[in-house]
Amino acid sequence: MKTLFAFFALFSCVSAGQILSVLNDNQISVKWTVNYKTQAVVFSANLGDNPPKSFIFGFSDHGQYNFSDAIIYHAGKKVLDGYIDRNMVVMPDLSQNVKTLRIRGNQITFKRPFTTCDAQDYSIESGTTQMFVAASWQHEIRRLDDNHVYKEMRFAKILGEEDDNFTEFEVDARKFRVLADEAKIPAETTTYWCVVKQLPDTVQKKKHHVIGIDPVIEAGNEMYVHHMEVFLCSDEVKEYSGNCNSDVKPSASKSCSHVIAAWAMGEGSIRYPQEAGLPLGGLRKTVSIMVEIHYNNPDRDSGVVDNSGVQFIVTPSLRQFDAGIMELGLVYSDANSIPPGQKAFAISGVCAPECTNNLPEEGINIFASQLHAHLTGRKLWTSHFRNGVKIGEVNRDMHYSPHWQHLQTVKPRVNVRRGDSLVTTCVYDTSARSKTTLGGYGIEDEMCVNYVYYYPASAIEVCKSAISNSTLRSYFGIRHELKTTLPIPELYNSVDWNDDYAAELGALFNTAPLNMNCLKADGNLFPNKAGTKRFDWEKLQQPKLYAAPFVKQRDSMECPAMND
Ligand SMILES: *[C@@H]1O[C@H](CO)[C@@H](O)[C@H](O)[C@H]1NC(C)=O
Ligand SMILES: *[C@@H]1O[C@H](CO)[C@@H](O)[C@H](O)[C@H]1NC(C)=O
Ligand SMILES: *[C@@H]1O[C@H](CO)[C@@H](O)[C@H](O)[C@H]1NC(C)=O
Repeated sequence: MKTLFAFFALFSCVSAGQILSVLNDNQISVKWTVNYKTQAVVFSANLGDNPPKSFIFGFSDHGQYNFSDAIIYHAGKKVLDGYIDRNMVVMPDLSQNVKTLRIRGNQITFKRPFTTCDAQDYSIESGTTQMFVAASWQHEIRRLDDNHVYKEMRFAKILGEEDDNFTEFEVDARKFRVLADEAKIPAETTTYWCVVKQLPDTVQKKKHHVIGIDPVIEAGNEMYVHHMEVFLCSDEVKEYSGNCNSDVKPSASKSCSHVIAAWAMGEGSIRYPQEAGLPLGGLRKTVSIMVEIHYNNPDRDSGVVDNSGVQFIVTPSLRQFDAGIMELGLVYSDANSIPPGQKAFAISGVCAPECTNNLPEEGINIFASQLHAHLTGRKLWTSHFRNGVKIGEVNRDMHYSPHWQHLQTVKPRVNVRRGDSLVTTCVYDTSARSKTTLGGYGIEDEMCVNYVYYYPASAIEVCKSAISNSTLRSYFGIRHELKTTLPIPELYNSVDWNDDYAAELGALFNTAPLNMNCLKADGNLFPNKAGTKRFDWEKLQQPKLYAAPFVKQRDSMECPAMND
């Protein structure tokens, strides 16, 4: 904690942000400034040209309105600290922790500490904050589900949003874009659209550094563009814009496998730190870039045309270090699956010492991280172990929402050395599901990924794990008397899951041998000295890791919060 405080004192101890919402044709904004010295946030709500009779600003653990924290304003009165109970009834808190600073016209300003140690308040933490605004133009709000109440959920980072001078570009910086030209979004729920473009000539000829990447989302299509991934192709590929699964997609696009950026709904631009840039071009052959756009069209709207994509900011004045991106977490495999009916089921993906031994001698410095899971992902984090002891974390989001993913700057930078372990844990909530949630690519399947941005570049592109297939099969054979030759999804679906079975599976995940994906950029495995054969990464023993001495920042028994 000491270094964190030193950092805030040195640079800035104030940061700011806002959310916007249109309720009943009336724009409402809530702006805030964060003061790290006093550990408090000053919120200022502008209730618009037609201010409501009653207004609530709330914090929600995971996007539900019931059992959430609420700051209540009835026109003409003081701001009240309250909460929404499990039945959607608006209740006052026993302890009032919100201070009204000013009420002037349609503008109300109040102050709230990060943490109040009141179990009827939400503790503001770093990572995603899920907030909501609710308003009524008729009555004081008594219940949040009354039909005169307009409400909307919003996402932002309140803590950890400081600027890092990522804005200054070299004078010779230039931009180019890779966009879907007039893509006709199919009237289907899920479409993966692939755009292949060649690099501009100047970049082909001379090595450049990518120093910034901006999403370019066509105005009006924000709701369709769910996420994008940017790949570098090792072979020359004909230019293309079309469905990723189409027969006419150039077959050479198989070589577009090296991920250089990932963007998801809600996220802003990527800026590289002053000392590093992502290498691009300057090779003896023509280089192509592929942008894969995941369109989400749940209402199957037809006739939507899209020109979204990605803008690159590049410079020929190379920075000190080449940067890279590495994928941590779980292998996309149905071996990593989640039983139904679980409120909080955790699986961890391990980047084991046998793989980090391939890092550069001086190690790598992680400066940004993007956690990714699908619809049942609730809490995600990556822990850092050295000599088996937890020495820190790379990133943590306790209020993850698949609808608002973001790139988090990692400060101070995390130095990962040869022999360290990086363990990415994802906690899933499948309580609303009646069937097993399989690990995989589909939006209904689950993933557990941390894309880490770092320098200097290393040959490792993927460092992820799955439970060993043979161990999993013998578990189903011995414990559930199933035929071990059945496909893994069938094994999962043959069990009548209950909490005891789920807990047992959780214990198996934590101890069973691993199948590691320790991959180079070309998709090939690294050799493994510890394996029986040169490239054998099957049945690797899990590293022995101890997290006990790592101090938790807040003890929930001494200082409770609603979101514990
Ligand atoms: C919110 O309400 C829903 C439906 O009534 C219920 O299933 C859920 O458990 C409630 N959530 C909390 C936190 O009480
Ligand atoms: C940000 O930029 C200013 C002006 O260029 C410089 O004085 C300051 O040290 C920089 N801060 C960081 C964190 O790099
Ligand atoms: C484990 O099984 C899955 C299918 O369930 C398969 O995709 C994967 O390749 C297998 N892993 C290994 C290392 O054989």
